[in-house]
Amino acid sequence: MSFCEGSWLKIFARPAPPDNIPAMNTRFLTILVALSVSAAATAAEPTVSLKISANQPGAKINPAMWGIFFEDINFGADGGLYAELVKNRSFEFPNPLMGWSQIKNPGAAGSLTVLDQNPLNAANPHYLRVKVDTAGEGFGLSNEGFRGMGVRKGETYNFSVYARSAGDAPKALRVELVSADDRVLGSAKVTKFGPEWKKETASFKASATNPKARLNVIVEGAGMLDLDMISLFPQHTWKERPGGLRADVVQLLADLKPGFMRFPGGCIVEGHWLTNRYQWKNTIGDVAGRRLIMNRWNDEFAKRGRGTPDYFQSFGLGFFEFFQLCEDIGAEPLPILNCGMACQFNSSELCPLDQLEPFIQDDLDLIEFANGPVSSAWGVKRAAMGHPQPFNLKLIGVGNEQWGPQFIERYAKFAKALKAKHPEVQLVSDAGPDPSGDKFDFLWPKLRELKADLVDEHFYRPPDWFYANANRYDKYDRNGPKVFAGEYAAQSVETVSADNRNNLECALAEAAMMTGFERNADVVRMASYAPLSAHVDAWQWTPNLIWFDNLRAFGTPNYYVQQLFSRNRGDVVLPLELTGATLATKNQPRFQATACRDEKSSEIIVKVVNGTAAPVEANLQLIGVRKAGPKATVTVLAGASLNDENSLDQPRKVAPVTSSLDRVDTEFKYTFQPRSLTVLRVPAK
Ligand code: AHR
Repeated sequence: MSFCEGSWLKIFARPAPPDNIPAMNTRFLTILVALSVSAAATAAEPTVSLKISANQPGAKINPAMWGIFFEDINFGADGGLYAELVKNRSFEFPNPLMGWSQIKNPGAAGSLTVLDQNPLNAANPHYLRVKVDTAGEGFGLSNEGFRGMGVRKGETYNFSVYARSAGDAPKALRVELVSADDRVLGSAKVTKFGPEWKKETASFKASATNPKARLNVIVEGAGMLDLDMISLFPQHTWKERPGGLRADVVQLLADLKPGFMRFPGGCIVEGHWLTNRYQWKNTIGDVAGRRLIMNRWNDEFAKRGRGTPDYFQSFGLGFFEFFQLCEDIGAEPLPILNCGMACQFNSSELCPLDQLEPFIQDDLDLIEFANGPVSSAWGVKRAAMGHPQPFNLKLIGVGNEQWGPQFIERYAKFAKALKAKHPEVQLVSDAGPDPSGDKFDFLWPKLRELKADLVDEHFYRPPDWFYANANRYDKYDRNGPKVFAGEYAAQSVETVSADNRNNLECALAEAAMMTGFERNADVVRMASYAPLSAHVDAWQWTPNLIWFDNLRAFGTPNYYVQQLFSRNRGDVVLPLELTGATLATKNQPRFQATACRDEKSSEIIVKVVNGTAAPVEANLQLIGVRKAGPKATVTVLAGASLNDENSLDQPRKVAPVTSSLDRVDTEFKYTFQPRSLTVLRVPAK
């Protein structure tokens, strides 16, 4: 069966299920305060009471609770996090000159031909033969980059190429960085060419900043050259690693202080068909030998005008780099591997049950790659890439967003084999694409029977659904598998709509639900927003946590919600009783709170979402505390309108503001701003 975009939309774009307000939470003595936006705007200010029982600590919060979900969607890797500036550097795109154009200056004559005889390597066999008959004023080619190349004044750029002469060698290869308005911003020359493939390098500084530069590669003199892996990187990358990652984007990730990083997806794990599934073994070792494939998001939403025909996976950001990134930013690695099922929104191709062995072996080998001694077959490969120490992998995902008996049958086989060899590694399974319905109802009991460790739930739903489901986990079985809220994002219009916005309304709705994750930290062990990032000129899916262009990146209001929860995680949940005036709408409890304690700093952390348009005056009591305050730290994320968003030009329009609060005691008053998420940190003994 071939994929039909409609099938995805049918599943994703159906109306939201009716709001599901759970019964009063006796477990945490939480009483919802339902405040209506419209009523609150006109009615007298309500007073609510928050009683926090500091003397009755509840569940321990997983130190890795708040994480990130990286998927190579929206130019997330090539053109995004991976700092390579040249697109189609190895001429492997099906149209091998996509991204390149010929340069033929006055008096020049020559040809560009893509060949594959006697290649640099078998994985990426194509290369370019440049034949210059008459040099004239220059013959060569130009690369457009990923929607242009972002370059900065004064920064050094490192060019490299594999080259060999094919007959008479020309005098030189001149590389020029050229601005959108045709100014040469920097240049360098490579002059030595032998008959064998050899990597040549050259560096230059950019004389001006330009977001849409291009790279010209011009042959000087007549002759014939073979070229492959034509590459340009900024010298300044994350941790200054050559051929590394964009420092500004990684910094945004690091600033989240994520407890874990899930990678590499997402549907990208599954592929349209099994042949183009993500295969981690093809993503390690020398970058030139990592076989390029088409990105499954290349054509996924083409019919909706979001096609990106130039979207491929070079795997320059591969599994070694993912593990390294996790280590850099202090996140537990959570790789997700294919379980013998292609995307069920696409072909639904299945690997027969009796042929799953290579898929299972991929998981076993990955564990050895990450954790095995350097004497092991895969551990030695990790060491050869510069990391003899293990990466300490403790989690692995079996399949991405699968469903039906086909998934359960496959999961059971994976679990049996993996648990037999690696009982120390926790397995992530999933409950399908929806947070309720047939698929979900089928999967959960089966996974319970199989004693799954963590079940990944996904919710792409409207903001009201998030408010209404803030107490979703209050009634979950405390003894069964744990929940990984692995993909969620409030959708301002509808799932997969290109009009969805990353606005404050959605961010606060997510925060409301996250208070429920925290209150139920014994059940919800991990959570991550999805997707993580998008290029403003090349996205397929919205909303996203981070947006970037070729030079800049910013966090959305949703990003700051994630950051506030992650940076104020706490170690143990404290029961919180919330009582007060209820101003109507039963179905939209837009005032939500949670409390926890940070053992190290001896602070009580209270997180409160006021999604209404009115300030809410509250009385806070810290029960069982001898001494509190006298000062507290208060951080507020708020905006003038629920439609407020951040942008490249106003990256912090909606951003947290921290101040100090005086006269705090074991009982004190605080007024929660309209449209806000507030985090109070109160020193308490
Ligand atoms: O986050 C975007 C997509 O949504 C993911 O790839 C997939 O797992 C889910 O369907």
